[in-house]
Amino acid sequence: MSLEERARRERLLGRAVRAVENCRKCQIGYTRTHPAYGEGDPCARLMLVGEGPGETEDRLGRPFVGRAGELLDKMIASIGLAREDVFICNTVKCRPTFDDGVRLRNRAPAPEEMANCRPYLDEQIEIVRPAVILALGAPAAKSFLGDRFSITKQRGIWYDGPHGIPLIATFHPAYILRQTGGEINAVKRLVWADLKQVRARLDEPPPEARSDVVQEALF
Ligand code: URA
Repeated sequence: MSLEERARRERLLGRAVRAVENCRKCQIGYTRTHPAYGEGDPCARLMLVGEGPGETEDRLGRPFVGRAGELLDKMIASIGLAREDVFICNTVKCRPTFDDGVRLRNRAPAPEEMANCRPYLDEQIEIVRPAVILALGAPAAKSFLGDRFSITKQRGIWYDGPHGIPLIATFHPAYILRQTGGEINAVKRLVWADLKQVRARLDEPPPEARSDVVQEALF
């Protein structure tokens, strides 16, 4: 990737961050402290898409920097990558909350919040153009693949994502953290299988470099 192209993508992402900072399409645009737009390598080959920012992400304005983020970092490292090598974002950029009478608590993003935020996610995908998208958890997977998607039955399967980008879903790291006893290892084994598929896909040569794919007549 040329330096010019990297700079162009950084410029576009910077502009998009400002648009999100000024966005008030949803109520959560008023209750959030900071949007967690997304971060990482603008030329990343792997994009990870989670659900929405939690308390720590809201405070710091960065995605996946709480407990689930710590586990996500380990998951990324397990396939030989660092956080800086990938692009991490969410289906919604502002923290979805409800007031339990004492404090604001996390909740799942509402469908209209996901719809309002979708153009920002689409724009991130357009700018970064990753080789692979990994959806973390059911809400992220459903946002790409429709409401009938079942994370337990359909994780670990490749789908055509936006722009035909290969997309696969796995369990959300927060879901892994919620498991107890023997369930933890069982879920981790499934996630590990999914991550190995991501690694294998990233290791595949791009179509233009594959000798078995005839791009055009050579004669
Ligand atoms: N969970 C998510 O889905 N996203 C974050 O950024 C943090 C926790």
